[in-house]
Amino acid sequence: MPEVLWNSRFETGVTLVDAQHKSLFDAVNRLAASLGSESMGDGVKESLDFLAKYTQEHFKTEELFMREMAYPDLAAHAAEHARLMKRVRVLQARLAQGEPMARDVATFFAGWLKHHICGTDMAYVRFMKANYQKR
Ligand SMILES: [Fe+2]
Repeated sequence: MPEVLWNSRFETGVTLVDAQHKSLFDAVNRLAASLGSESMGDGVKESLDFLAKYTQEHFKTEELFMREMAYPDLAAHAAEHARLMKRVRVLQARLAQGEPMARDVATFFAGWLKHHICGTDMAYVRFMKANYQKR
């Protein structure tokens, strides 16, 4: 059973953002699957590293969009991104020190992603659609 399933309530209508969000769902599910079989080791490290890298890339994309359209809540949105990345870095460091990773780490990411897309992301997408052409 995947940790997160895509459905239309996560759809922003911005093609690139939706594609990246879907890939993030996949990355979270991959992490969940690797944690299902073991709580440390290469599979977990690999899936957490991929999630970290892809999340960083995705945040860069969103922050660029928001900067380009002078989005008034950019700072707060970027701060939310930065908080998550900090949490990811802590998890990577703990794993590197040999600390086993709990299954609920994937549940945390799944919850964060759903909540962030439906709230914080939808807010900038509404602003984008109201003020600029759809990408
Ligand atoms: Fe975001």
